[in-house]
Formats: sequence, C-alpha cells, structure tokens
Amino acid sequence: MLIIDGKKVSLDLKNELKASVESCKAITGKVPGLTIIIVGQDPASQAYVRNKAKTCKEIGMISSLIEMPAETTQELLLQTIHELNNDPAVHGILVQQPLPEHIDEFTVTLAINPSKDVDGLHPENLGRLVMGDLDKCFISCTPYGIMELLQRYTIETKGKHCVIVGRSNIVGKPMANLMLQKLGSANCTVTICHSATNNLPFHTRQADILIVAVGKAQLITADMVKPGAVVIDVGNNRIEDPAAKSGYRMVGDVDFDAVSSVASAMTPVPGGVGPMTIAMLLKNTLLSFQRFNGL
Ligand code: GUN
Repeated sequence: MLIIDGKKVSLDLKNELKASVESCKAITGKVPGLTIIIVGQDPASQAYVRNKAKTCKEIGMISSLIEMPAETTQELLLQTIHELNNDPAVHGILVQQPLPEHIDEFTVTLAINPSKDVDGLHPENLGRLVMGDLDKCFISCTPYGIMELLQRYTIETKGKHCVIVGRSNIVGKPMANLMLQKLGSANCTVTICHSATNNLPFHTRQADILIVAVGKAQLITADMVKPGAVVIDVGNNRIEDPAAKSGYRMVGDVDFDAVSSVASAMTPVPGGVGPMTIAMLLKNTLLSFQRFNGL
C-alpha cells in the first residue's frame, strides 16, 4: 500500500513557491500579501489561522492576522473586508469559518472581492470552477491540494469512478466538479454521497477513488472499500486516547489501519491532505499577486 505523503509534497511545494515569491519580488519590488480574519476565540480555529499566517511568512509573503472579538457586528466585519478589498498590498483575503451565529457566512463571502477570494468560496469562483474556467478562478484549497496530490503521485483518473462522501461548499462540491472536468488529472465519473444517502457502503464500494470529507471519525471501514482503491481522507477528528500524553489523538474519516489492508494508496491523518490545504492557500495568494501584476 502506497502512502500518499502530503507532508512531503507540501514541503516541495512550499520550496517552489518560495522561489516564485523571490522572482516576483525581483521583477516588481513587491511581495504577495495575505490577510486572515478570525472572529471569536475558538482554539482550533485560532491554531489553524496562526499556522496559515506563519507558513505565509516562511515563504517570504506578507501575512497579517486580524483577530476580532466574538461580539463583532456583521457590519464591522463587512467594513473591514471592504477596506481590504481596496488595499493594493492585500492580494488574498480569508475569513476563517465557522463564524459566530449572528453573522451570515454567505453575506460575508459575497462581500469579498472575487479576485482576492483565495478560499475559492465566492459564487463567481465556484461558478467558474463548475464551468471549467479554471485559469480565471480560485479553486478552494483542500480540493486543489487533493488534485495536486493525485497529479504528483501520477494516479490514473481518466474514466475512473470517483465517489465523494460529503457535500460541503468548501470540499465536497468543488471536489466533485474538479474530478468531473475534462482534464488529464480528472475526467472521472463522479458520485456524491451525503448524510441522506441510502446504503452508503454500496456506493463507497464502487469507488476507484474514494474521497471522504464528512468530519466523522473512522466512518469508512475496510468492508466499505473496493480492493485496490485510492482513498483520500480529508477528516481531522480528535478522539480520546488514554494512551496518549494529551489524552487524545487525531484520526481521519477513514479507519486507516483496517482500510490500509484493502486500498492501493491512502493519505494518512495527520500528514496527508491537511498540509496541502495550507500550501494551496499560499499558491492561490501567489496566483492572485501574479494576476494583479500582469505576470
Ligand atoms: N475553516 C476550516 N477550514 C477552512 C478553510 O479552508 N477556509 C476557511 N475560510 N475557513 C476554514
């Protein structure tokens, strides 16, 4: 069984991006800038965004983190986004989700200038993706990272049956539309399963490529996987583990140990899809800079 090493690929990618940032700087005298907004104190979200901002700096980009209290009004958040939309030093804007309940996520997403929407969540970007206009849109970072892994591991996709479990706007829907595109690294027959799917194991067993993004620890067991399938695990779940020093450990949506005896290739958790998401965020920020500067 081949382990698809997202940690290693993301390091390669970060080195490539660092070199590109240097050459952008040599040509324009400027570097790409990413601003991340977080509203509230959720510790997991705070850890994510700090990691994103830190990695950005490591490759020579400018990153800033705007931390707003949980009581922030939607109006103030929209005003902050408006200012960033008009700031020429900011090429990427990311508003970390989830947002507090009194703030409407869709209204916030619509407020971001689509040319700076490095999360690929704005309907203009998601719409262009669905229509195959990939050169002019931003692809949301997790599906984009999965495409990069499939390409770098030369996993054959043409004509294969790709089954996606999960229909979120940030992973499942863009992932399905990417795998559907008539591209070398896609061109699949695609099935999307979700919480109302009848007989989930029947569908997952049809998959040549199984991509799981539902946030349910170890949902996918060995009997749900076709022998020889490629399994991509987007899950990142904390489960209790008395043997661990912290009392918990991170697992994916796939029972890794059991499924590894059936699959031909798999992403581990941690060290699979997770590190790729950050790397693709940086790639999108660089892409935005290049578009703004006509490079
Ligand atoms: N929350 C968890 N992952 C993400 C992400 O990729 N983007 C945003 N905006 N929020 C998230």
